[in-house]
Amino acid sequence: MSEALDVDAIRADFPILAETVHDHRLVFLDSAASSQRPRAVLDAEEHYVTTSHANVHRAAYTLAERATLAMESARRRIARFVGATDPDEIVFTKNATESLNLVARSWGTANLGPGDAVVLSIAEHHANIVPWLQLAESIGIELRWIPLGDDGRLDLSGIDELLDGAALLSITAMSNVLGTIPPVAELAERAHAAGALVCVDACQSVPHSVTDVTAIGADFLAFSGHKMCGPTGVGVLWARRDLLEAMPPFLGGGGMILDVRTDGFTPAAVPHQFEAGTPPISEIVGLAAAVDYLESVGLERIHAHEAELTAYALRTLPDRFGDDLRLFGPTDTEHRGGLISFAFADIHPHDLSQVLDQHGVCVRPGHHCAKPLMRVLGVGATARASWYLYNDTDDIDALADALDDARRFFAI
Ligand code: ALA
Repeated sequence: MSEALDVDAIRADFPILAETVHDHRLVFLDSAASSQRPRAVLDAEEHYVTTSHANVHRAAYTLAERATLAMESARRRIARFVGATDPDEIVFTKNATESLNLVARSWGTANLGPGDAVVLSIAEHHANIVPWLQLAESIGIELRWIPLGDDGRLDLSGIDELLDGAALLSITAMSNVLGTIPPVAELAERAHAAGALVCVDACQSVPHSVTDVTAIGADFLAFSGHKMCGPTGVGVLWARRDLLEAMPPFLGGGGMILDVRTDGFTPAAVPHQFEAGTPPISEIVGLAAAVDYLESVGLERIHAHEAELTAYALRTLPDRFGDDLRLFGPTDTEHRGGLISFAFADIHPHDLSQVLDQHGVCVRPGHHCAKPLMRVLGVGATARASWYLYNDTDDIDALADALDDARRFFAI
């Protein structure tokens, strides 16, 4: 059993949590969309900008060398954070969406042809659907879908048929709507046995639990900085070096070339050939500071803390609201992450979210960029509350009190 988090001390690290909204303390329950940043991340970015900023990999003066060292040190720390031994397997992108587009556009166009199959789950969010739909349109790949079971988990009963002859399984490590955590390592093993590669959309899992790309069996792994206490505008694609080396460049421009002639170009070595243009350097530095921060707290402790909050929410909210609350997703905490999606008392999630905001409670309403899943659930939108290391049971109680108020407000 890992030692419990000192949430009060953690909250003190996040300046924004001292804000008030409509005269209430801020109850931030939308970290699955974008998390908040600790002072250590803000300081790291400021320190970099005020002592070391210049463009990277381009100049010979001291400042440029400092900037390049800062970025490459970040690459090493982020590689270690996801269990990668080779920092050159880390490609910096804008976000997980760009990372997944990179896989589809670069690996996909080079390796897939008409009729080649990519297996997705119906619980993917749009970033892991639309790039593949684009390839279906442009080169005629086939998309196969792992369906949802009755219990809010993926129905894996037909997985071997779906993987049969497929080129790639691209799957979320945690549903951003249901919280469901699929057995990714087991699925990767089956995919590899069927001859398929495995791409993991890890933007909801990397921030919340220990990640080891080898143990998972991933060939590609995508995540975003802004969901893991880091800045917006920076994401990561980790990919096996041999795959990266065989992939054509994605975006063209400065920084990604070894030579350019009037009749062609020679790309730079990986990972630089996938990092065209000036990268988000201060954001990369901030992301490495976020990694240091999360490691100093401990990913295992963060995961255990969130599991306790999920258990608390799954116990207290149905008790208090009965049939007024409809929860989507698994109703137990087994293989489930730190969020709940719900419908409440026939109140539209957007209206609900506005009333909750009057109490300082931030939840996300809408389709959560997962429209195919919403269709299966038979709803256009849900409200979603998601927690992180800086939340505690008081936040879930504040959500409950605000829901009570919404029920009164809309009953009139
Ligand atoms: N970032 C999106 C979310 O809120 C997909 O889950």
